[in-house]
Amino acid sequence: MSCLEVQSITRVFDDLKAVDEVSFSVEAGQICGFIGPNGAGKTTSMRICATLDLPDDGDVLVDGMSVLSHPREVRRRLGFMPDYYASEPNMPVADYLDFHARAQGLRGPSRTRAIREVVEFTGLGDLVAKDCSALSKGMRQRAGLAVTLLHDPALLILDEPAAGLDPRARVELRALLSVLAEQGKGVLISSHILTELSEICDVVAVIEQGRIRASGKVSDIQRRLQPDPLYFLRALAPPDVVEQRLLEQPGVHAPRQQDQGVVFALRGQEQDLARLVHALVAQDLPVVELRQLHADLEEVFLSLTDGKVQ
Ligand SMILES: Nc1ncnc2c1ncn2[C@@H]1O[C@H](COP(=O)(O)OP(=O)(O)OP(=O)(O)O)[C@@H](O)[C@H]1O
Ligand SMILES: [Mg+2]
Repeated sequence: MSCLEVQSITRVFDDLKAVDEVSFSVEAGQICGFIGPNGAGKTTSMRICATLDLPDDGDVLVDGMSVLSHPREVRRRLGFMPDYYASEPNMPVADYLDFHARAQGLRGPSRTRAIREVVEFTGLGDLVAKDCSALSKGMRQRAGLAVTLLHDPALLILDEPAAGLDPRARVELRALLSVLAEQGKGVLISSHILTELSEICDVVAVIEQGRIRASGKVSDIQRRLQPDPLYFLRALAPPDVVEQRLLEQPGVHAPRQQDQGVVFALRGQEQDLARLVHALVAQDLPVVELRQLHADLEEVFLSLTDGKVQ
């Protein structure tokens, strides 16, 4: 059973279909990147998953519980971190955590323990004595994460948690999320900055104008878009000549010149690559560099979306 199963949800605002039959799932222990440009429908979808809004059609299951028929059970199982804080309360972080722990129904020693654990985990340390409104952006994100973890949810939904963080804070956030996934939690994290997610996400769901353009492992998406492996070849010859020679070989397609060399796709297996190299060298083409290019989240994203902002 998936930790999160989004089943064809649709949300319409007036005549705008902000979310249009969106489906994807996140397994326990998996980090899923929810990627799309501004206005794509990420926040709207996440709010529906978190029971803060209702879909006009479709359903979402969190740990098998429906947001429509069992919203309370869903809330107990998920932690949601919105992309903004409505207002930073004028109270010490410790009180803020205590308030949320009580709201989650934690009592007595289990509340004290839950607060101690999340403070330790997020590295808030002595900052718990500070007022929430006095925290820096990075520290506020940590406090926000601490709040979402208080009731030990099976699923975390984080809306743009890395926005506005400095590089070090980003690396630290990534490390925290990896630990949470290792503990078996499912994590759904949105962003439009791809490099932020590429290293930590097991899977991605790419959304644009309310519709899912692709979902699954980045390498699988890449394979579907470009089923043949891509190679970069450079020779001591003008790229025009190299491109021409490549096109004469069987299985070579979609060549483009790049960095003094040529990127091309090759149908077939490694022995076909070996045959290609042999043929080129036999023609006295002085090959100096050949390497396979690997799936890159940025390229996958750009090839899937045309950048339209809704
Ligand atoms: N309450 C609302 N009433 C009317 N339109 C809305 C409402 N909430 C969202 N929308 C519209 O739905 C679309 C999707 O918005 P959403 O906030 O889900 O996008 P997003 O992917 O989170 O974008 P961003 O990256 O900018 O946060 C947008 O066109 C937005 O204007
Ligand atoms: Mg948003």
